[in-house]
Amino acid sequence: MVQSTVDRMFRCTQCNELLEVVYPNLAEAPREFGLRLREIWKERRTGTLPEDISGVWRFRELLPAIQRNNMITMCEGNTPLVKLTRAARELGLPELRAKHQGMNPTGSFKDTGISVAISMAKAEGYSFVCCASTGNTSASVAAYAARAEMKSIVLLPAGQVASGKLAQAIEYGAHVLQLHTDFDGCLNVLHDVVHRFPAYLLNSLNPYRLEGQKTVAFEIMEQMDWNVPDHVIVPGGNLANGSALGKGFQELRELGLIRNLPKISIIQAAGANPLVRTMRENGGNALVRVNAETRATAIRIGNPASWRKAVAVLNNSGGACEDVTEKEIAQAKAELGSEGIGCEPASAATLAGLKKLVRSGFVKANESVVLVLTGHTLKDVDYMLQAQINRVIGPMPADAAAVVAVLERIHAGN
Ligand code: F0G
Repeated sequence: MVQSTVDRMFRCTQCNELLEVVYPNLAEAPREFGLRLREIWKERRTGTLPEDISGVWRFRELLPAIQRNNMITMCEGNTPLVKLTRAARELGLPELRAKHQGMNPTGSFKDTGISVAISMAKAEGYSFVCCASTGNTSASVAAYAARAEMKSIVLLPAGQVASGKLAQAIEYGAHVLQLHTDFDGCLNVLHDVVHRFPAYLLNSLNPYRLEGQKTVAFEIMEQMDWNVPDHVIVPGGNLANGSALGKGFQELRELGLIRNLPKISIIQAAGANPLVRTMRENGGNALVRVNAETRATAIRIGNPASWRKAVAVLNNSGGACEDVTEKEIAQAKAELGSEGIGCEPASAATLAGLKKLVRSGFVKANESVVLVLTGHTLKDVDYMLQAQINRVIGPMPADAAAVVAVLERIHAGN
C-alpha cells in the first residue's frame, strides 16, 4: 500500500522549493561522537553484511533510517580515488586525483543516490518507480528496481541518450518511453504523470537521492586520510550532484571531522550552461534557463531543478562555476584516456574546467584537487569512436610482415 506523506515531486507545498533531509543536532554532538563514527565506518569496510560493505549504507548514521529488509544495495560506492600524474604534471599541480564514480554497479554515480531513494520507495510500499533521464539515471533506476522486484518506467529524450545507457535500461527490464522532447520536457511530463499514476519519482528532486550521493564526500575524506583537498570539481546538469557533495562536506564539518570545506566548483558545457549564466547575470538570484545543446548528453539540461541548492554550495564553499566548449571537453577526455582513465564526456568537463581555473589563477600551483568523474567510459562509445576512429590502422592484410612494417614506422616516429 502506498502511504506517501510528502508531495509527489518533493516540493514544499508552501514555498514550492525542493525538500531537503536535515539532521538537526549534528553540530551540537560532542566531538567524540564524530570520531567514533569515523572508527565505525572504517571497521565496516572489512565486514560481510551488505549494509556494511556498501559505500553508501556504511555511513547510515548520516542517512535516513531504513529497515534492513527494505535496503536495496549492490555494494555501490567504494569507488577508487586515482592519481592523475600526467595531467598534474602538465598543469603544474602537486596533487591531482580523480574520484571515479563511473566504477559504480551500473557505471555512474547515480547508484549511490538511487540505492537510498529506491529503498524509501520500497519502505513506502510502492511497486512502480519512475524517472526522466539523460540516460544514467534510467540505467540505475532500471537495475535497482529489478533488484527490488519493482517495475520501472523511464522517460527519455528521443535520440539524445548514449546507446550504452539506453541498452542498460532495456537489459534491466525498464519500461522505456522515448518522448519527442528534451530532458527538461521529459521531467515536466513526469511531473503530471506522478500525479495521475502511483509511481515513485526517483529523479534528483527526490531528497533521498542527495543523501546517497553525498557519501562520495565521506569516501573522499577517508581516502585522503581526512586531509581536506583545496578543490573538488564536479560537472553540473540538473545540479543535484554538486549540491549533494556540498551537503556531505558540510555535515562532516558540523560533526567536527573536518575544519573547512573544499572549494566546490561546478563545470557545465558551454551549450548547456544555465548555472554559469545565472551566476554571471544575476549573482545566483534567479535561474536563467537555456535551450541546452551539447554532445555531453548526460548534462544536456537547460532548466536544472536543484539550481538553488547548487548556488548555496558555490557560495558556502567559495567554489567557481565555469563552462567549457565541446572542443575542450573532447580534448580533456582524450587526455584522461591517454593516462588510462576512461570516463564519459560529461565527466571530462571537470578536467577541461580545471584547466580554465588554473589559467585564471583560481586554482593555485600548490593546491590539491579532486575531479569527480561521474560516468564510465563505455557509456558513450559512439562519442569516442567518432572522435578517434581515424587512429585505427587498416583494414590491412593478415600478414606479419605488413604488421611489422607498420610497427617499424611507428617506432621510427613516422
Ligand atoms: N555526469 C553524468 C555522467 C551524469 O549522468 C549527470 C546527470 C551529471 C554528470 C550531472 O549531474 O544532474 O546531478 O548535475 N545525469 C542525469 C541523468 C541528469 O538523467 O542521468 P547532476
